[in-house]
Amino acid sequence: MPTGMAGPVNAIRGGVYAFRGNPFIEGAGARHYEPDAIVAMADGRIVDCGPAHEVAARLPPGTPVTAYADALIGPGFIDAHVHYPQLPVIGAGGKALLDWLTACTFPAEERYRDPGYARDVATRYVTENLRHGITTAAVFGTVHPQSVDALFEAAQQRGLRLIAGKVLMDRNAPAALCDDAQRGYDEGRALIGRWHGRGRLAYAVTPRFAATSTPAQLELAAALWRETPGAYLQSHVAESRAEVDWVRALYPAHARYLDVYAHFGLLGPRAIYAHGIHLDEGEFALLAQTRTALAHCPTSNSFLGSGLFPLHRALAAHRAALVALGTDLGAGTSFSMLRTMQAASEVAQLSGHPLAPACAWWLATRGAARALDLEAQIGSIEPGRDADLVVLDLRSTPLIDFRMRYVADIDEALGVQMALGDDRAIRATWVAGRLAWDRDAAQHAVGAAPEGVGG
Ligand code: GUN
Ligand code: ZN
Repeated sequence: MPTGMAGPVNAIRGGVYAFRGNPFIEGAGARHYEPDAIVAMADGRIVDCGPAHEVAARLPPGTPVTAYADALIGPGFIDAHVHYPQLPVIGAGGKALLDWLTACTFPAEERYRDPGYARDVATRYVTENLRHGITTAAVFGTVHPQSVDALFEAAQQRGLRLIAGKVLMDRNAPAALCDDAQRGYDEGRALIGRWHGRGRLAYAVTPRFAATSTPAQLELAAALWRETPGAYLQSHVAESRAEVDWVRALYPAHARYLDVYAHFGLLGPRAIYAHGIHLDEGEFALLAQTRTALAHCPTSNSFLGSGLFPLHRALAAHRAALVALGTDLGAGTSFSMLRTMQAASEVAQLSGHPLAPACAWWLATRGAARALDLEAQIGSIEPGRDADLVVLDLRSTPLIDFRMRYVADIDEALGVQMALGDDRAIRATWVAGRLAWDRDAAQHAVGAAPEGVGG
């Protein structure tokens, strides 16, 4: 047991599944599975982890150990791209991206000028993360700074690690959702002053995409990002063909979509771009060279009919771009990272390049931590890492219980969880060493009265 700990130690026991390396490169040797392990935590960090009989002998006398039966403990899931203001429009539309933005998304985002509304949705969003085992997320607010204040407040209360920012838009959007280049910069700066680097919170400069920002706004976005150490930059790229054509028309001096962002200095470590479905080889290489991350959002891509993300091309061995998984709610249709992994696996099958369950899992944990430049903090289960843990119930429904009788090994078990599991599989979520969600305790709580449809 390491020395220098101030706080009390607590521990959890169950199977452990995590990664020591990259399964895309090292195969099965990259993963670490321990059928009966103890993970010990103190001061928000993991302080010990290993076979239960070994760790038990090292624990301070009287350490409380919560044992989970038929469970797998993993690093908390990471959602690398999501729009919390779009929770109220999940599943609406049946349209392609640009029509969906106009018809469903922008009207929904106008409501966030009301801070009370923003607080309600932000609180629900944070709770849903915990219910789904998500302990870190990169999140879009709306153009309203109060939407981001509400989100950071809610995340801080529950201990969630959050990367978030106010959306920058100064053209091609309703007037009520537009700032201007200077106002966007000033509001971003003020939010950075209030939140960036406070506890587990980090600011992300958030130009929505090239089509809704003028060159002047992209220039100031880059300035704000560059002058804020540790800040992120998040946006969208090459999600639909119509969007790619539109951006080409808006920025005729640039041959390719990614060149626009490169021109304004918006690529680099801690930049995260969602989608990238319609990028060419040169653009994938540029992402890799600049260590810019892509968030692959498969449920969203299917919902909007945007296309099949070519994960195998993004990860081609000669360059290997940084890729993480995103739910992209509300175009995404599931909060569940299990469902999102399964969707990624189905897209990979349709592309003729199957994705092993272990690789899908890596994209939602250690691979995502690497993509977000947080590998030293999160994404794995090792002493010194944040004690952000998800406890998966491997038998959460009658069908899963039945199917699990026939699994040959842990990798097949993961495949079953991806194919059949959802929020019911999240037995518990630990955030910075604190129990932040306990499914079975919550089931005993009294639910709210049902509301009518359309009310
Ligand atoms: N591109 C620009 N804005 C958005 C958005 O809100 N959702 C998705 N999926 N794509 C976008
Ligand atoms: Zn998005």
